[in-house]
Amino acid sequence: MMTLCQSEERRATVLDGARVAEEIKREVAGEVSRLRETHGVRPGLAVVRVGDDPASAVYVGSKIRTSESLGLRSEQIALSAETKTDQLLQTIDTLNAREAVDGILVQLPLPLAIDESKVLEAIDPGKDVDGFHPLNVGNLALGRAGFVPCTPAGIYELLVREGVSLRGARACIVGRSNIVGRPLAQLLLRADATVTICHSRTTNLSEVTRTADILIAAVGRIGLIRGEHVKPGAIVIDVGMNRLTSEAGARELFGDRAAERIEVIRKRGATLIGDVHPAEVEKVAGRLTPVPGGVGPLTVAMLMKNTLLAAKRRREL
Ligand code: GUN
Repeated sequence: MMTLCQSEERRATVLDGARVAEEIKREVAGEVSRLRETHGVRPGLAVVRVGDDPASAVYVGSKIRTSESLGLRSEQIALSAETKTDQLLQTIDTLNAREAVDGILVQLPLPLAIDESKVLEAIDPGKDVDGFHPLNVGNLALGRAGFVPCTPAGIYELLVREGVSLRGARACIVGRSNIVGRPLAQLLLRADATVTICHSRTTNLSEVTRTADILIAAVGRIGLIRGEHVKPGAIVIDVGMNRLTSEAGARELFGDRAAERIEVIRKRGATLIGDVHPAEVEKVAGRLTPVPGGVGPLTVAMLMKNTLLAAKRRREL
């Protein structure tokens, strides 16, 4: 029998979020074009950004560019870091009232001085393309129609379009945020998966995560999910978007693929890495989303889809 040498060790297949995102965007562009031709309607997205967090600026830029490339109308409202809650509420009131605005997104995180709950509750639930308004959160929990947050909706689309069977599957989500963990649990539950949510207070994390057929990491901690956390052959979705600046860290985390990451660190000061330890998990998982190119593009694609949906629902089309 042939023995495998180091370089021939089995590696997880890539779960190509970027490819599925392109597919979704093509569908949205087609529908947007039909909507313009048949009803003269051009869906509009308004993105509000407060302060000068560089990561938020990059994400918002990508949302605006993608909207334009798919034929949607978009606008960015950039407010200073000193903006008060009341001023932001006024901006939202104006956007709620404007006919041309179908979708409103307030990029998070907001500066600490701003009352985030008040802001999210002020958005018209019919224009809430992020699905963060309590009415939409409730609709999702009750299995009713509403808007589903973009990252969980994208992960769900990826699993379904890649033929992953959810009914009866054991899904474990690490992270209980309102943006990813909680809404994703609702979506997977709705699809008849057996769902467990782990978090920072979970004891014996690996004991729980190792039971999962589908493991989703959404905590924002570099390399938290190691080989020991993964059931052999499991599907692993890495939602983390962390900046890695250390070359030694890159060597440890990326193993024989570290060279290209080190080059990125030298050129740009950091490389993007998820919550999964890639070198270890690649050897155990069956399929794994890359970072970058996994969940990130899906989030943007689903925002486009939600904006199109908002434009149609508002006009009862
Ligand atoms: N910050 C990180 N992810 C998101 C998202 O999906 N929506 C908004 N508004 N802010 C975010």
